Amino acid sequence: MVQVRNLLLSYTKIRLIDLLLMAQLKKCSELIYPHRHLLSIEDLAQVEITGLLDLADRAAETNREISKKRDTLRGRTVINLFFEPSTRTQSSFELAGKRLSADVMNMAVKSSSVSKGETLIDTAMTLNAMRPDILIVRHHAAGAVELLAQKVDCSVVNAGDGSHQHPTQALLDALTIRRNKGRVEGLTVAICGDILHSRVARSNIMLLNALGARVRIVAPSTLLPPCPERLGAEVFTSMDEGIKDADVVMMLRLQRERMSGSFVPSTREYFHYFGLDQEKLDFAKPDALVMHPGPMNRGVEIASSMAENSRSVIQEQVEMGVAVRMAVLEALSHHLPDEV
Ligand code: CP
Repeated sequence: MVQVRNLLLSYTKIRLIDLLLMAQLKKCSELIYPHRHLLSIEDLAQVEITGLLDLADRAAETNREISKKRDTLRGRTVINLFFEPSTRTQSSFELAGKRLSADVMNMAVKSSSVSKGETLIDTAMTLNAMRPDILIVRHHAAGAVELLAQKVDCSVVNAGDGSHQHPTQALLDALTIRRNKGRVEGLTVAICGDILHSRVARSNIMLLNALGARVRIVAPSTLLPPCPERLGAEVFTSMDEGIKDADVVMMLRLQRERMSGSFVPSTREYFHYFGLDQEKLDFAKPDALVMHPGPMNRGVEIASSMAENSRSVIQEQVEMGVAVRMAVLEALSHHLPDEV
């Protein structure tokens, strides 16, 4: 009898310790990411960025195993709502959600009632009524995703809003740099091309600064915003000077869909002065990484030979895109309600 009582007591103790550990673990993940949404890099503290990158690093390893599936989001619903075209971001969010066992729906915006004049908010409210847990949104207007996040009950991830923010792109870029260089702090990163229209540049400048990198922006003056130094980077209008001794050279395409009027005389001339080729890359450190968020316009901002160069980590950026989006979905899942 005494033996049974002692056995029960030790079992209860073990269960209690188990529950305490579980609660502690949940608290830790909440500490890593205390937000309900991911809208802008501006909202993240350095420790939160590092926490997400660590989580993504582990996801990247899982993604290289034969069995990639985990139960983290079982029973949860993720909706991709993309009002702008996307190859990488949309497919990697879909894959990330599926690898975490969520039900993932890709909203076909072109064939939806948006084409009949339904507003962004009405579309979002309609989807909200279907009780999704996480909404991934890309929109051509800066600020649209934040506005939508105020109207719905679920978590919202900004998958790119106009020329404002693309937070998961900056996270995957930082992860790629960290995995190749072992750190981000102290590195010189040159972001080159159409800075004026680039949400990737804005998110990257904020994130790289938060992690202690030295950030440069390199562009013709027509493709720089007014007062470019306010972005938090050193400004260059010559590729040779901007790339000199850089550890990372990140190329951006001309974002014609956001241009009104002509910003460069011709793509041929643009390539001559600002396109990355071997001659220009020689100004960077011999082990400099070549990066591009995609989609690439070969022969405009980057030579084909540079995209396929042994120093190019462009395909690894795509791979890290899935890992980072898994980490973001997992971090947000800790804030989803456990019961109705
Ligand atoms: N880098 C990026 O956002 O690519 P997509 O437009 O293909 O999603």
